Amino acid sequence: MIDKMLKRTSCRDYKKSELSKEVIQSFKDIVNSSPTSTNCHHFGCVFVTDNKLKKELSEIIYSTEAIDKCSMIAIFYLEKNMFEYLEEKTNSKLDTNNLSFYSTCLFDAAISCTMLNDAAISLGYGTCYQGVVKSFPKEIMKKLNLNNNIPVMGLLIGEPNSINEVKPKLNKVFENEYDFEEVKKRVDEYDEIMKSYYSGKSNKYKFSDFVSSFMKTHNEFLSGDILKEWTDLIKEKFKI
Ligand SMILES: Cc1cc2nc3c(=O)[nH]c(=O)nc-3n(C[C@H](O)[C@H](O)[C@H](O)COP(=O)(O)O)c2cc1C
Repeated sequence: MIDKMLKRTSCRDYKKSELSKEVIQSFKDIVNSSPTSTNCHHFGCVFVTDNKLKKELSEIIYSTEAIDKCSMIAIFYLEKNMFEYLEEKTNSKLDTNNLSFYSTCLFDAAISCTMLNDAAISLGYGTCYQGVVKSFPKEIMKKLNLNNNIPVMGLLIGEPNSINEVKPKLNKVFENEYDFEEVKKRVDEYDEIMKSYYSGKSNKYKFSDFVSSFMKTHNEFLSGDILKEWTDLIKEKFKI
């Protein structure tokens, strides 16, 4: 498993194939078995396996044609409807107006999504996280009948048609003590590694090194403007 994890790369090129009922069931079991903060089950997930629905989702998330080709996209969401049901059942109010509540929900969903990812990798499937779902929250909520539940992450799973080369990674780990000067050194070294990695390769976003791609990613693709609809939904539903 460790070897498979170290060779893992995001897969955006899939063969059209279907997952067996058994595999889908074991993936459901994995999502349901993930640990949750104080056993509160703050999130949920829709497995989209239906070809027509995948096609429709790929039209909503128009930048990601892999959604149409993969075997399944799992959409993780924050289970706001259940909170409302629990309030109704107990005739009391939930104090969601704090970042801790929201980050707990998000963290639990991320753990479960990662467990699903790792289970898929263990079976030899290709996977790719889809943070892009946050750019189209309302349309996805409508399409999947999520009501007040807010999508936070997608995960593509399928049989790879081609496999990317492993991307060099930044060393982010310390033993016993953090060292900021070491971080700067590692960033500078990694920037050079990524310059050679990108040179001569075409990439969709025209990245040429680590530092400028970091700045561009955050200021353009993940900017407040692009994620405004999602941010407003979080503020509205969690009353933050
Ligand atoms: C939280 C998260 C969100 C991501 N969202 C997307 C996405 O929306 N679209 C996409 O093509 N890749 C997405 N990725 C994949 C990253 O681009 C990828 O992990 C990164 O470039 C490193 O490449 P590797 O996974 O091949 O090692 C996401 C990854 C993470 C962890």
